[in-house]
Amino acid sequence: MSANIVTTLPLGPLDPERTELLLRVVEGLEPSTLQWLSGFAAGVAHERAAGRPGVSLPIGPVVAPAVRAEPTARLTIVYGSQTGNSKRIAERLGRAAEAVGLAARVYAAGNYPVKDLARERMLVLVVSTQGDGDPPDDARGLIEFLQSRRAPKLEQLSYSVLALGDSSYPKFCETGRQVDERLLALGARRLLDRVDCDVDYDTLANAWLERVVTGAREALGGTTPSATVTRLRTAPVEPQFSREQPFSAEIIANQSLTGRGATKEVRHLELSLAGSGLTYAPGDALGVWHENPPAVVSDVLQALRLDGEQAVELDGSAKPLREWLATGRELTRLTRPFLTQQAERSQDAQLAGVLQPGHEAGLRRTLKDLQVVDVLQRHPGEWDAKAFVQALRPLAPRLYSIASSQEAVGEEAHLTVALVDYELDRKRRTGAASGFLASLQGDQARARVFVEENERFRLPADTSRDVIMIGPGTGVAPFRGFVQHREAQGATGRNWLFFGRDTSRASSCTRPNGRTQ
Ligand SMILES: Cc1cc2nc3c(=O)[nH]c(=O)nc-3n(C[C@H](O)[C@H](O)[C@H](O)COP(=O)(O)OP(=O)(O)OC[C@H]3O[C@@H](n4cnc5c(N)ncnc54)[C@H](O)[C@@H]3O)c2cc1C
Ligand SMILES: Cc1cc2nc3c(=O)[nH]c(=O)nc-3n(C[C@H](O)[C@H](O)[C@H](O)COP(=O)(O)O)c2cc1C
Repeated sequence: MSANIVTTLPLGPLDPERTELLLRVVEGLEPSTLQWLSGFAAGVAHERAAGRPGVSLPIGPVVAPAVRAEPTARLTIVYGSQTGNSKRIAERLGRAAEAVGLAARVYAAGNYPVKDLARERMLVLVVSTQGDGDPPDDARGLIEFLQSRRAPKLEQLSYSVLALGDSSYPKFCETGRQVDERLLALGARRLLDRVDCDVDYDTLANAWLERVVTGAREALGGTTPSATVTRLRTAPVEPQFSREQPFSAEIIANQSLTGRGATKEVRHLELSLAGSGLTYAPGDALGVWHENPPAVVSDVLQALRLDGEQAVELDGSAKPLREWLATGRELTRLTRPFLTQQAERSQDAQLAGVLQPGHEAGLRRTLKDLQVVDVLQRHPGEWDAKAFVQALRPLAPRLYSIASSQEAVGEEAHLTVALVDYELDRKRRTGAASGFLASLQGDQARARVFVEENERFRLPADTSRDVIMIGPGTGVAPFRGFVQHREAQGATGRNWLFFGRDTSRASSCTRPNGRTQ
């Protein structure tokens, strides 16, 4: 049992040898002894911080330790994240809590030991919604457990949920809403009301985070002397380049992989990460901050009959309208709030109709098939520049699976990008980020990027194991990185790669390297 618990805990700064030693020490120990050990370690840390290097603390769980860890007087932070946003916020919250002396532990939902639930006093969940109102993969188990009859009564628990989502989906923040309601039904008390965040989550998330830290400190502060701060993992050091501070990467190759007759264009890009210190593992993705296509920006300005050079002041910064539209706002992805405003401004009954209850399928189609410019052209309405910028969603970066291994390509990251390219009303439309990446040609071409880790998507450490990789369409990108990595490692296991093409055709199976399958 103990080995099971320990291996699900993040072991932080320990090297493999000490990790193994620690696992041996704790194997088979009773929970009470494990708790004593935690207090012992905190006590040693306390003595060392006070300049007393020796162990002068009572040894053995029979004697009450000088500094006792109080397992329930802590803040437990659990995140369910598919693309890293919830994880980032949870880790930020963990650091903020520790900074004010709170004992805090951060878990990916998939690693959270559900048997601890009945003893938690304070739990916060940061969880996104995926698919069509579904939980992220790593949160499925926890949510199933909460929804099941095995879930304990939680009258001792204070909690808060931060829900991440995207209002262009019909089931906005569905998972966060479900978790929040279930915890309440199980008897837990809300420390704070749930906060639902759209893709521009930073402002709401930061305000929520501060209120959680204050609330947790008030509730736990009295029972949490600073010496019991038990770091179960090292607070991750913020890398120099991140989502908020992306690296400007040079594009060193950008070529089409598809022939003339292909139904879609897929491109191979190579980006230089030289000098950035950015590292990645196969399975990670590269976040790209794109710019909207100049032609789309011009079409939007024309549809609005607004001057792109006029200054728009918002959030403390003044920029020309054209710049807001090119680099600051989403122009290709529609949202329900924008449609609502456009319906009012255009007084268009058809547009207003799809927003009415009972017309969900029509709304879904509108959100999926149309871009902002299409709505402006089909249902014209009057806007002033500032109101228009305010009505649009802030630009969000897109993720692309990294299609290379650093073992093979060093300080480069390769991408396999399918260009979103289609015709509407006899006009060509491209996806914002895929179109932007496709357009990056020449010596000066650069893209602002960051690495998004995906710890749930990794090759087996044992290189003799066989791997089966299944990637429909351009989902093949990460597997190029996997295969490159296996080759560089001299992996002896077999590699199977399945990839799909058009749904009307049979999927293909290939043997990218290694032995005959
Ligand atoms: C973890 C992860 C990894 C990914 N890896 C890859 C990868 O390796 N390679 C890759 O190519 N992509 C990958 N993607 C997808 C990628 O992030 C983008 O979503 C994709 O490139 C489209 O973005 P865009 O900005 O070009 O299109 P957007 O501008 O976001 O979308 C275009 C808009 O046009 C509308 N539209 C209307 N009709 C159509 C139509 N017929 N076709 C498409 N859109 C239409 C839609 O409403 C859509 O919102 C990945 C995504 C994730 C989450
Ligand atoms: C394939 C996909 C499906 C999504 N489905 C929904 C949804 O049904 N409802 C919603 O509110 N948000 C949805 N989202 C938006 C995500 O919840 C949002 O991007 C969130 O910030 C992701 O957080 P994470 O990185 O922690 O997973 C979806 C995103 C993707 C990529």
